[in-house]
Amino acid sequence: MIAWRDAMSVGSPALDADHKKLIELINLTEEWLGRESWPQVGAVIDDLLLYVQEHFRREEAIQAAIKFPDTEAHRRLHEALAARARLLHDKFKAAATDAERRTCGAVLAKVLNEWLIDHILKQDMKFKSLIPKKAPPPPTAGAELKTGLPQPSDEELAAERKARREAREKDVEYELPPNLAYLLKRIEYVIPHLPSPATGFDSFEKFCEAAICRRIDKVLVFFQRHNPALSLELPPVFLSSPEFAEKFREAIVKFIFPVIWDSRQIRMLATSYAWAEDDTETFWEHVTRPLEQSILLGWTQGWDDLKLLETKKDGLKVFQVKDNTKALREMLQPSSPQAYDIPKIGNREIETFKSLLDPANDWWETLNRAWRICHDLYEQEKDPRIFQQKAREGAFRDNLLATFNRFPPQWVDFLVLACHRVFPRISTAFLESFATNLGRNDAEREAHIPYTIRYLRQAREIPGIRDRERDEEMEWQLRMKELSDYLAHRPKKE
Ligand SMILES: [Fe+2]
Ligand SMILES: [Fe+2]
Repeated sequence: MIAWRDAMSVGSPALDADHKKLIELINLTEEWLGRESWPQVGAVIDDLLLYVQEHFRREEAIQAAIKFPDTEAHRRLHEALAARARLLHDKFKAAATDAERRTCGAVLAKVLNEWLIDHILKQDMKFKSLIPKKAPPPPTAGAELKTGLPQPSDEELAAERKARREAREKDVEYELPPNLAYLLKRIEYVIPHLPSPATGFDSFEKFCEAAICRRIDKVLVFFQRHNPALSLELPPVFLSSPEFAEKFREAIVKFIFPVIWDSRQIRMLATSYAWAEDDTETFWEHVTRPLEQSILLGWTQGWDDLKLLETKKDGLKVFQVKDNTKALREMLQPSSPQAYDIPKIGNREIETFKSLLDPANDWWETLNRAWRICHDLYEQEKDPRIFQQKAREGAFRDNLLATFNRFPPQWVDFLVLACHRVFPRISTAFLESFATNLGRNDAEREAHIPYTIRYLRQAREIPGIRDRERDEEMEWQLRMKELSDYLAHRPKKE
């Protein structure tokens, strides 16, 4: 995996953005290669090569505009890479066995990877000094004088516009009639922003509390993604609601953190480093293996103490609810039924809460990578952009099923529901059919995805949902037909 570094900036925000995007696509290629998902490797390489071409056009136009003397030689470098990548791509497509695909794909990723980094750092840097910088904005009173970040100059913008115009003439996607123009854009939705790590605490206790809550927040914030354009009748499940996240934090502070804090080990940490200058993210770098275990122990113990006690009365199972558990139930109630849905808190919910902290793992990156794959597969299978290769039928579902092994088992349920809240065609009808993979009846399925089943039970009670979904699906099919008609009859260009 490559990561973007400031040292890679060539001084043009537009080209930097391109380079970042290319890095992202190469990383994604490697990700798919690692999983040996060949159709996806093919699809992402298609995307990558298209984007490389577009970037080269943009960069060459900017070079011409800033009168970079080596434009011609640079263009030849671009051409050589494009030719080599195309050749490897063809080879990959022609590969007959997995072993061949593995080799071809790996070579291609390596070539692109090395070439891109080397090219950006050496060749693209050569024109950095020629990119005109805009005057920095006047400093505000009392503010420290900072050098302004390079802004695109008028010349650069004009060159970009020209490059874009040329691309538009070449690419079919830009000729689409307005009713199909949405197929140009990636699907848009809200991905909540993860707040910056906090610092400046007056006590080590408060600092630890915040650091633990941050790690949990990272999981909760991940599940809060949603698509405001979808008009869903049912409220989100508790785990996806920002209001729940806030209440959950209060519950941790009240019921769980004191149990963790009880251990000498965490308090000892205060003496071993200058924590006051640290923040809630880097805190975790100081947590040793034994301390991880001690935090987990307190966490588990804290939740287990809140569990309902199972006793037998006249041969019948009876659950005894402790006062603390009642207080927890009270605390985690939504402010209104529309804010979020939460069942009466029982031992299953407590197990779900328990799964949210993993002192040994920061799941943020892994979750986001898994999401990128969900997003791409959704687009490729369920709502393909016209410049994308199509994924095989069932690829999206299979990927969701595969995530069961990669995350704490409780999370998959919420991932499924997040897909439903983000992707228009992941309807309750899709969820119903998805659930059939996980058991013969609701009771069996409930063991795997209790909250999806709960959601579906509620959805079945609202007949309007099925009608709305059917209408939306028909509309989508109609647009797809319009698109294929348009593509079949569009005027040929020389
Ligand atoms: Fe470049
Ligand atoms: Fe370049």
